[in-house]
Amino acid sequence: MNAPDPPLALLAELTHRCPLACPYCSNPLALERARDEMDSAQWRRVFDEAAQMGVLQVHFSGGEPAVRRDLEALVRHASSRELYTNLITSGVLLDAARIAELARAGLDHVQLSLQDSDGPNCDRIAGFDGAQARKFEVARLVRKAGLALTLNIVVHRQNLERLPAMIELALEFGAHRLEIAHVQYYGWALKNRAALLPTRAQLEAANAVADEARERLRGRLAIDYVVPDYYARRPKSCMGGWARRFINVTPSGKVLPCHAAETLPGLEFDSVRQRPLADIWRHSQAFQRFRGTDWMPEPCRSCERREIDWGGCRCQAFALTGDGANTDPACELSPHHGSLIEITEQTGAPPPPFHYRRFSSKAASGARPAEDARAPARTPSRV
Ligand code: SF4
Ligand code: FES
Repeated sequence: MNAPDPPLALLAELTHRCPLACPYCSNPLALERARDEMDSAQWRRVFDEAAQMGVLQVHFSGGEPAVRRDLEALVRHASSRELYTNLITSGVLLDAARIAELARAGLDHVQLSLQDSDGPNCDRIAGFDGAQARKFEVARLVRKAGLALTLNIVVHRQNLERLPAMIELALEFGAHRLEIAHVQYYGWALKNRAALLPTRAQLEAANAVADEARERLRGRLAIDYVVPDYYARRPKSCMGGWARRFINVTPSGKVLPCHAAETLPGLEFDSVRQRPLADIWRHSQAFQRFRGTDWMPEPCRSCERREIDWGGCRCQAFALTGDGANTDPACELSPHHGSLIEITEQTGAPPPPFHYRRFSSKAASGARPAEDARAPARTPSRV
């Protein structure tokens, strides 16, 4: 295979620590501990290497990246290497002083998450008292600081009815972009699928709301909205294709082709502590495993869409079929597509309580997850 083009973007998971406990968190079930995180100097070297290999964007993520007191310094360093910098944040640890310092450090963009337009439900889903009030304040501070703002709302059966109100909030905040992201079911979200998967009726209503808003707000607010995989007929091009566009570095320095890649068995992940980033991107086993089309089985191998959706999502294929090399069952040409239809037909039952994302070893191992029915609110002092 020819040398791949450099990745467009690096997702820098500075930490898995987070004051929130969202039941659809994209972090792995086995969260990395603070003592294993890379220090500032190691992250600076990662950004140097990323810039040298042609990466254009760094997305500072977590956990909650603002847990790290060196966030501003790391943004300043990445910016000095002419990398476009985006902060993916829950907002709850930011204040006016930190936002102003981030702006001075050269931060280009903030992607702020919001769990719901309804205050009590926002706080309940986040597992954090007062989350919504803090987020509203941060949205205003971000715009006041002159930073570009994307509002990111993860939608599911317990907030989808309020999509119109959430769109109004994005307008009120002066956001440039609104991402309406349906939950992706692996990791924590897979544990909570029965509590989160919308009904078909909910989804159809939401699709109509999104379509109408996109048309009405053209030129005022860019709206990203994709129909969720479980109701799709063809899969999305997950990550823009495995090891084609994105590179992900975990808090401890492991380099992944996708943030959920550790759910797949049989992959070996190299660390930036031991091996240069560019070398990992080009040659490491985990990146080579599903890059391109050579690995594909039928029906993907002879499908005209194989270089459009790249066979869909490897992590979802594993989660639903037990083999990450299978065609994503979101594709109706997959022999496993019927299992998705069966799952969506069971959404009429009342939702069970959430398993909240926790650092506890029991929850992290998946042995006996934390189970909270309503608002086990935590405060920043427990971060
Ligand atoms: Fe995509 Fe494979 Fe389905 Fe074709 S068969 S649409 S390549 S997932
Ligand atoms: Fe890993 Fe889709 S989430 S490839």
